[in-house]
Amino acid sequence: MTEHTWSKSSWRDFPAWQQPNWPDSARLAEALATLGRLPPLVFAGEIRTLKKMLAQAVTGRAFLLQGGDCAEDFANCTAPGIRETLKVILQMAVVLSYAGGKPVIKVGRMAGQYAKPRSADTERVGGIDIPSYRGDMVNSPEPTLAARAPDPERMVKGYYLAAATMNILRAFTRGGYAGLHRVNAWNNEFVKTSPTGRSYERLARQIDNALQFMEVIGFDTDNPIINEASFFTSHEALLLGYEEAMTRQDSTTGGWYDCSAHMLWIGDRTRQLDGAHIEFLSGVGNPIGMKVGPKHDLEELKRIIAKLNPENEAGRLTIITRFGAGQIERYLPGLLREMKGEGFNLVWSCDPMHGNTYTAESGHKTRNFNEILQEIQGFFEIHWAEGTVPGGIHFELTGNNVTECTGGGRNILDHNLAENYQTNCDPRLNAEQSLEIAFQIAEMLRN
Ligand code: PEP
Ligand code: CO
Repeated sequence: MTEHTWSKSSWRDFPAWQQPNWPDSARLAEALATLGRLPPLVFAGEIRTLKKMLAQAVTGRAFLLQGGDCAEDFANCTAPGIRETLKVILQMAVVLSYAGGKPVIKVGRMAGQYAKPRSADTERVGGIDIPSYRGDMVNSPEPTLAARAPDPERMVKGYYLAAATMNILRAFTRGGYAGLHRVNAWNNEFVKTSPTGRSYERLARQIDNALQFMEVIGFDTDNPIINEASFFTSHEALLLGYEEAMTRQDSTTGGWYDCSAHMLWIGDRTRQLDGAHIEFLSGVGNPIGMKVGPKHDLEELKRIIAKLNPENEAGRLTIITRFGAGQIERYLPGLLREMKGEGFNLVWSCDPMHGNTYTAESGHKTRNFNEILQEIQGFFEIHWAEGTVPGGIHFELTGNNVTECTGGGRNILDHNLAENYQTNCDPRLNAEQSLEIAFQIAEMLRN
């Protein structure tokens, strides 16, 4: 390839996978121009703070907890919808930090997770082929030709909904709601009566006692460390036009940051070394995640990592492995060995969701709780064996009482999936399943 200089639009000279066929280029240009004028959703200073925190996860001094919907739903941008997911993440973080003994970096798949890569461009519905659903920022999930036509105005709408989500997240996390005095109040009504819910209540009481003790000995617990939570946002940087429009130059350092979210990740399907996604993300200063599944080439991965993180800066790059419970032992050890051999500074995170998807007899796309847990266990054990650091976890989850993944404390069976199956895309753990897994991970973290 010829020499080139990065700019926020240099990705346009590279092949871009998984982009929608926007039907009207004038309307697309107009939407992108509108986005380019709108204020950033996050600031460069916050992005740098997250990167510093992630640097701690490289060496095992902190643990990354990333989670949220597979695809956020425009219609679900409501205070209760956002609060319920935030609550589960806060609960999981408290379990991991209190029982697991490590500071937890909380990153939501929230406030912008609106675009999806798909394995097929079209879907056959009632005898005709219609475009696949690609996330609410592109088209609408209803299975009709009209609903599935990509509409660039949806990116502008997505921006405003991401801004609304961001705003309420900031209010919840800074306004007292996420304070440690309220740990017990985050427990969900439907989780409370379960064994996991009870374990959580016990843990919450212990935290209350610890806070009371601190007050008794004269420590003022009315301070931001106790009353506020740090919370960051992330999404897959899939729609490069949108990401380009949200990319701004930081006035203090002169660096470029994609201000659509604090952290961005590259999907398993769009991480080609000479592709547009790697090109775009190589030039923004955000912490970057990269999904790696069974179909990878170790030599290519090394070159991608070198392109994304030429300075080998700790906290810049998180590798999110997603092999599946049955395949992690085949792929992870070699991957860890090779990357350790290169001396790369990486956060290693485990996505136990995307390698464990299957279709139930009822026709629902689902994942089984035990397989999810098995992949996590494999992830920790392989890292221990290889002398590398298991630095984080990546979930698709929701605070609602959905029935999308099988198993868990209530043992959701295939025939229960239809009871409350809500996702537009991949199946998510519900609040109880998420909390149960957090307790299991806390045990592993203590090791
Ligand atoms: C996702 O995280 O929703 C996703 C599509 O993952 P992957 O790129 O790993 O398939
Ligand atoms: Co998904």
